[in-house]
Amino acid sequence: MQHCFNIVTVFDNAQLLARAAASHIAQLANRAAQEQPLYRIALAGGTTPQSCYLELRQEVLDWSRIHIYFGDERCLPEGDSQRNDRMAEESLLNHVPIPSGQIHPIHAQWGAELAALDYARRLLQSGPLDLAILGLGEDGHTASLFPGQDYRQEPRLALPVFHAPKPPPERVSLGPAAFLAARHLLFLVTGASKHDALVRLKRGEALPPQQFKHGQWFVDQAAWNGS
Ligand code: 6PG
Repeated sequence: MQHCFNIVTVFDNAQLLARAAASHIAQLANRAAQEQPLYRIALAGGTTPQSCYLELRQEVLDWSRIHIYFGDERCLPEGDSQRNDRMAEESLLNHVPIPSGQIHPIHAQWGAELAALDYARRLLQSGPLDLAILGLGEDGHTASLFPGQDYRQEPRLALPVFHAPKPPPERVSLGPAAFLAARHLLFLVTGASKHDALVRLKRGEALPPQQFKHGQWFVDQAAWNGS
């Protein structure tokens, strides 16, 4: 299988990557301003994107046009410190003038099944994402799409995830259909711990990110070269 690395930019370190990613996101959103009133961004969870979100606070962006979605959410109580939306609020959303009605959290506290049905309906109403930011797990997962599942025929825009290998076990993830429909995908990958997953993807292994051929990859040296 042809691998998914069509556009890869390698940065010397994670901080330079974060700064470049913030600038790239702002450029994409500002460039779209000429042709569309709104700009829909799905944020990644985990720890890697946090430094990018901190940098994004400094970028010149018309936040009145931005709608924020989430690539996945952990089924934890609302406001739990381990939720992806809480991380995004603390690193970015509480610090920029985005109207609160333009932040669209996944109601993961309702349980995976109900929250996934609800989010799929909301995504259908909102239309395709303009940009989805994604991370990469050490095992090759992205969002909450984990290896070992065959998502190629999965039609749902959002799906419940149970027994996730990365805690918590119950999650909601955007499905491949939502990511494939997104105009831009930006993967942010840093650290030597991600090198093995990148090697497996380079070899063409059928890990979840492999199906997203239009993804753009920002990686640091440690992840790309393993040191
Ligand atoms: C999550 C994320 C997950 C994350 C990767 C990478 O809920 O944790 O959605 O997909 O992006 O596991 O996580 P790190 O950036 O913390 O390495």
